Amino acid sequence: MKNIILIGFMGCGKTTVGIRLSYRLRRAMEDTDKLIEKEEGRTISEIFRTDGEAFFRGLETDCLKKLIRTARNMIISVGGGLPVREENRALLKQLGTVVYLCASAETIYERTKHDTSRPLLQGDDPKGKIRTLLAEREAIYESAADIVIDVNQKGFDEILEEIAEAVDRKEML
Ligand code: S3P
Repeated sequence: MKNIILIGFMGCGKTTVGIRLSYRLRRAMEDTDKLIEKEEGRTISEIFRTDGEAFFRGLETDCLKKLIRTARNMIISVGGGLPVREENRALLKQLGTVVYLCASAETIYERTKHDTSRPLLQGDDPKGKIRTLLAEREAIYESAADIVIDVNQKGFDEILEEIAEAVDRKEML
């Protein structure tokens, strides 16, 4: 059994889906943002504020390399920007089966509009930022993914069912 990695834009549900999937499949779960915060002893917002985004992106690559050495049969959710680095996409492939949770800008806005923990979505025009960043990233997510799951207007049970089926099919190939 390979690791299952959840990728997708901020607010697409990676963390919640990951936790539920880990219960359903009885596999442990890790999250790259949480691992980075633990290792650094500060929040993602503090890292962005103090050292900037490029520094954070380096920490994401380090975190992936560490997971490749240690993670087995796990569910792993990763930060929304992690697949943007080409190097990280190659590392994701090594780490396991990559599942892209695909959400529209509207779904993402609704799920993130009250959130203050994501530095890239703060400021005057979060909706515009979501649209711009999502347009830049959609093709990247698709190219990094082994499986694409449309999560718009679906409940978690339906999403979990689709992921479990698609992963089973993939692992039987
Ligand atoms: C980011 C997504 C965040 C976090 C950081 C940057 C991004 O993770 O890594 O704020 O560039 O999309 P989530 O996707 O878990 O919110």
